Amino acid sequence: MKKLKTTLLCLIAGTVLQTSAQNMNPIYLDNNQPVEKRVEDALSRMPMEEKVELCHAQSKFSSHGVPRLGIPEIWMSDGPHGVREEILWDSWSAAGWTNDSCTAYPALTCLAATFNPELSHAYGVAIGEEARYRRKDILLGPGVNIYRTPMNGRNFEYMGEDPYLASQMVVPYIQGVQQNGVSACVKHFALNNQEEWRGHINVNLSDRALHEIYLPAFKAAVEEGHVWSIMGSYNQLRGEHCCHNDLLLNKILKGNWKFDGVVVTDWGGAHDTKQAALNGLDIEMGSYTNGLSSKAKFGYEDYYLAKPFLALLKTGEVPVSVLNDKASRILRLIFRTAMMPNRPYGRFVCPDHSSTALKVAEEGIVLLKNDRQFFPVPTGKYQKIAVIGENATRSVTEGGGSSTLKVKYEVSPLEGLVARYGKEHIVYSMGYASGPSLYDREEPSKMNTDSLFNAAVETAKNADVVCFIGGLNKNHFQDAEGGDRKSYGLPFGQDKLIEAILKVNKNVAVILISGNAVAMPWVKDVPAIVQAWYLGSEGGNAIANVLCGETNPSGKLPFSFPVKLEDNAAHSFGKLSYPGDSINEYYKEDILVGYRWFDTKKIKPQFAFGYGLSYTTFEYGKIATDKKTYSPDEAIRVSFTLKNTGKVDGAEAVQVYTSQPKASVMRPEKELKAFKKVFLKAGETQTVEMEIKVKDLAFYNEATQSWTVEPGEFVLCNASSSADVKSKVAIQVQ
Ligand code: GLC
Repeated sequence: MKKLKTTLLCLIAGTVLQTSAQNMNPIYLDNNQPVEKRVEDALSRMPMEEKVELCHAQSKFSSHGVPRLGIPEIWMSDGPHGVREEILWDSWSAAGWTNDSCTAYPALTCLAATFNPELSHAYGVAIGEEARYRRKDILLGPGVNIYRTPMNGRNFEYMGEDPYLASQMVVPYIQGVQQNGVSACVKHFALNNQEEWRGHINVNLSDRALHEIYLPAFKAAVEEGHVWSIMGSYNQLRGEHCCHNDLLLNKILKGNWKFDGVVVTDWGGAHDTKQAALNGLDIEMGSYTNGLSSKAKFGYEDYYLAKPFLALLKTGEVPVSVLNDKASRILRLIFRTAMMPNRPYGRFVCPDHSSTALKVAEEGIVLLKNDRQFFPVPTGKYQKIAVIGENATRSVTEGGGSSTLKVKYEVSPLEGLVARYGKEHIVYSMGYASGPSLYDREEPSKMNTDSLFNAAVETAKNADVVCFIGGLNKNHFQDAEGGDRKSYGLPFGQDKLIEAILKVNKNVAVILISGNAVAMPWVKDVPAIVQAWYLGSEGGNAIANVLCGETNPSGKLPFSFPVKLEDNAAHSFGKLSYPGDSINEYYKEDILVGYRWFDTKKIKPQFAFGYGLSYTTFEYGKIATDKKTYSPDEAIRVSFTLKNTGKVDGAEAVQVYTSQPKASVMRPEKELKAFKKVFLKAGETQTVEMEIKVKDLAFYNEATQSWTVEPGEFVLCNASSSADVKSKVAIQVQ
């Protein structure tokens, strides 16, 4: 009784104090106060219950604010390529709003393929403006999980196989989003490199692989991008779920990297109250709830970081300092977003956003093969162009899982080509049928596969050239969340159809719309191949601009295309290496992911990381450094000339790789440490200059659990791809 009285007295006193304090324009509401002061003041006004409320969902895509203090809720939305339509309060269903059809930007594999960080910033600004306009405080993206296997259903959402490329491209995206007063949420932290058993698969790997391959993009997002939130992944790392993993979240993220933002679960990624409390989780979001009443099984108030958390705090089993740290981080995010002074208002579906989407799409398209100068095909060159394939007309902005979008518009490849060449010169035949799209499209089962096939061959026979537009399509098992691909080859009989078309017409270009590498049995038979990603609302215009030559392609592959799946590192060590035995998985290729594997094992990929052709040609001068010897804290200034030796203006993503021939540990043959997209007019020469910090030549030393640069020789090379080294230069590190 006495305790209750004391508590009541404190509450009344507190309220009286507050009321009087509140009259003096309280600090937490004062826009002129620094964020940290506002956090401190708000925290001091909140009882435990209000702090616990901050730590979990109140609906499918929102978490609590502090209504009594006028501190707003946090509203979140997918996704990395555009702002998802409004979802109902407590289900995955669409709310059916009519004001939420967005601009779809290209998938992040396309953004990575531009090798253009400035474009990444423009992308972030544009998508951030749309998230702000839709009144979202957290945009649930970008994703930077490393491309370890071509089977991963979600590779299309990420930035490829190289940690340096992903690091350089993720930072400007985050900065662009956050300048709108919207938090980016880099995901999925970490080791979510497949969809098979994603909810629990326990990843085992070496410290070197963890730190050298899988963490750098997240580290850059935190230390350089200053990302305000991060999403834990569903899988486990060394026996602990990543949404509450002591090593990842406490030691590395909040300890070493000094992350001051908020860790959010993936939806339903929390599994234990004490671990969620003590292992670094801040906000628990979820999938299984009836948030309308706590009586329902697993209602929001029953979440691990809801009532059960409060109970542990009350018994003292979890110290209040743990709660205060979470609440401070969440309040900090609110003061950076919803309560940001002079917060911009954003914009939604405007010409600027369309031109950004178009620019990223154009610069990300990769020309893989172009024999006999097949491309560009200027308008008027041919009377009849056959466009064949379902991906020429199918929407690729919907589907794929949580990154699915309801768009204001989407220019299909066929529409783009018809607009460009004139409908009298384009004849379309679907050729093959896949699973049902979300729109009320004719079910393939009603279509006779043979008649589609035969009609397409007939169309090809009567045309001057053929543009086969196929690939994958973000249906289940075809580049989609929740499931990995079942085969490396193209689905729906595309390979057979391409072979049949080639029998009646040799002039065939294959244009792949996908987010993953695929087998190419026809690679020698077709004169031209284009890797066109999921390109978003402006996709058809970007494809038309590149194919007709208005835009000179400059994209380069952010991941390797193996000839066959068995050539891939993760697929070279049996089931335990991929997809695991349903409980454990062992990353046996260790640090040799992607080109690191192909180089070191001398396996020739179909198309290499960093590879992409242009309609012009480039000549590289010999690489040089400003000195011969460097101390560990210096930067190496690299330079070489680059000449556009062709007849059209173009851009080249030049790359610099480094290697340490005599290291005391196994190191890949070479590793990307610098790149730059150089725009050159026809005939123009530029001297390209880049910097590489000596400290970035380090390997992760498992003995000392820190980064080590050994003295001795390092070799730097300039290259147009990981498989095309132009010249080398050796330096000494003291
Ligand atoms: C999904 C995805 C995650 C997404 C979240 C909300 O399971 O893994 O990327 O942001 O749930 O839709």
